[in-house]
Amino acid sequence: MSENKKIAVFDSGLGGISVLRELKKQLPGEDYLYYGDSANAPYGVRTAENIQELCDEVIRKICEKEGDIKCVVIACNTATSAAIEHLRKTFPDIHFIGIEPAIGWAANEMDHPMILTFATDFTVNGKMFRDNVKKLSDKARFISKGAPEFVKFVESGVTDAVDSAECRKYIDSLCEDINDKVDAIVLGCTHFPFIKEMIREEVAKKLDCEPKLYDAAVLVAQNVKKWLQENGLLEEKDRGSVEMMNSDPSKIDFMWKLYES
Ligand code: DGL
Repeated sequence: MSENKKIAVFDSGLGGISVLRELKKQLPGEDYLYYGDSANAPYGVRTAENIQELCDEVIRKICEKEGDIKCVVIACNTATSAAIEHLRKTFPDIHFIGIEPAIGWAANEMDHPMILTFATDFTVNGKMFRDNVKKLSDKARFISKGAPEFVKFVESGVTDAVDSAECRKYIDSLCEDINDKVDAIVLGCTHFPFIKEMIREEVAKKLDCEPKLYDAAVLVAQNVKKWLQENGLLEEKDRGSVEMMNSDPSKIDFMWKLYES
């Protein structure tokens, strides 16, 4: 039924592997092609036009390699914010599913929570995120922080399994001007789930609270599943394949390590 077409998943670098893992959990029978654009990471400090150009290039490379695909998951909050509408116009035959910080999930699940979002500067300053915050303003209070160094830490090999005093210090510095206790931490960049325990522990210690973590990867995988079902494309086999590509091929080994961690 699916003619063995793959689901393409892409990110500016390694972060989207956190989304790939969730896709694999919820949709184990699908075949995946993951593309990381580590040679051009980080995206979060670039302009929208520049991110759109990079995304165009990535999609062309995926199509060149794979031909027909089922859909493309933009496993990058920054690229979703900067480029999803542009990509839909540029590649009208491809179905794109993006990711946005899970602030709605946190706001609707808790009783008027204080939500701390960490994301890239592009995402927190972008229209998509600011509009969503506005829409939820009667349900929650928000503190939103650009945390670009997290991307660099993860790209350079820091994870919860490795730990890093420098990363913990950076988390403390991000909390320096926060005076409220927070109920929820939204991981608004797909790189951050790899250091989520460090983030939770440091924020909890620094602000004397017990925040719950929210990662939109779960919602993305649900969206992909729904779309596949609605279009009769859901793969019934038990176990599908995963292929890794990167604009910086030296990252491939580490990509597999992250995927299997
Ligand atoms: N992983 C990406 C995200 O979800 C961005 C990282 C970057 O700045 O390249 O926003």
